Amino acid sequence: MGTYAVTGAASGMGRAATERLRRDGHTVIGVDLRDVEVVADLSTPAGRTAAAVEVLDRAGGRLDGAVCAAGLGGIPGRDAMVQQVNYFGVVDLLEAWRPALAAAGNSKVVVFGSNSTTLTPMVPESAVRALLARDPHKALRRVGRFGKRSAPFAYASSKMAVTRWARRSAVSPQWAGAGIRVNVLAPGIIATPLLDEQIARGEKNSVEQLAVPIGGRGKPADVGEWVAFMLSPAADFLCGSVIFLDGGSDAYFRTDDWPASTGPGGVFRYMRRAKAWRTRH
Ligand code: NAI
Repeated sequence: MGTYAVTGAASGMGRAATERLRRDGHTVIGVDLRDVEVVADLSTPAGRTAAAVEVLDRAGGRLDGAVCAAGLGGIPGRDAMVQQVNYFGVVDLLEAWRPALAAAGNSKVVVFGSNSTTLTPMVPESAVRALLARDPHKALRRVGRFGKRSAPFAYASSKMAVTRWARRSAVSPQWAGAGIRVNVLAPGIIATPLLDEQIARGEKNSVEQLAVPIGGRGKPADVGEWVAFMLSPAADFLCGSVIFLDGGSDAYFRTDDWPASTGPGGVFRYMRRAKAWRTRH
């Protein structure tokens, strides 16, 4: 049985994952604003540091896995908080936990992304890059260009950045090379308190009218099953993948976007990457 850290463990999908792991007999150290082992506010650097340290303390310096589910939906007026929790609340904790994950030998990380990363048109690339460069003020200015309509762009850019961070890290010597499997679960419309909040704030139509080819909404308990699977030995060969669990919305809107030919320019990138790999090994 393993020891897992789960952020956002008090509600929705983080809670469902926690319950599922505990049913299997694993130890879960929950992190959230309330009702968990480690109560911390992931929207501040101090809160993130405190959470990281307390989890390591409770885990005895060894983690079999981590699930980063804490997150905030895109609501007007809280773009900065969204960036802090959805991006830095994942990256800062995982970087602090990396040695403990490496200590386990074969550990697994599930980062919660979102299908908003592919369903939101015109997300400013500069905001995504600014977050990856740890410049939240610049990222905020970039999404601020959308004025009163900035909330979905703040949300989608935070999830795009965290997804890219996860994929970059996943294949690096520090993570894959240390036996840590990092993958992203990108849910679509899942019936959780976060979704209820979005609907209560006036997004009922956009939620109800979204194209979901398979129909309906996802259930948190089913997402919990996916998390458990992505942490299990069956997922040993999964590395840097983004799993869309969204009833087909991503496939509907972005059908032919990927896999796509890189064109001639891609040849040089492949050669550079292949050479870097050979040099490393
Ligand atoms: P939820 O609202 O039910 O749970 C999120 C948890 O994060 C809550 O327990 C909340 O207290 C915690 N949290 C928020 N701010 C925090 C902070 N500053 N410090 C510590 N904890 C904090 O949400 P849900 O739906 O379970 O979302 C889980 C993840 O899935 C989130 O990252 C969300 O962005 C993502 N997601 C959700 C979708 C949905 O339709 N519900 C769709 C796509 C992605």
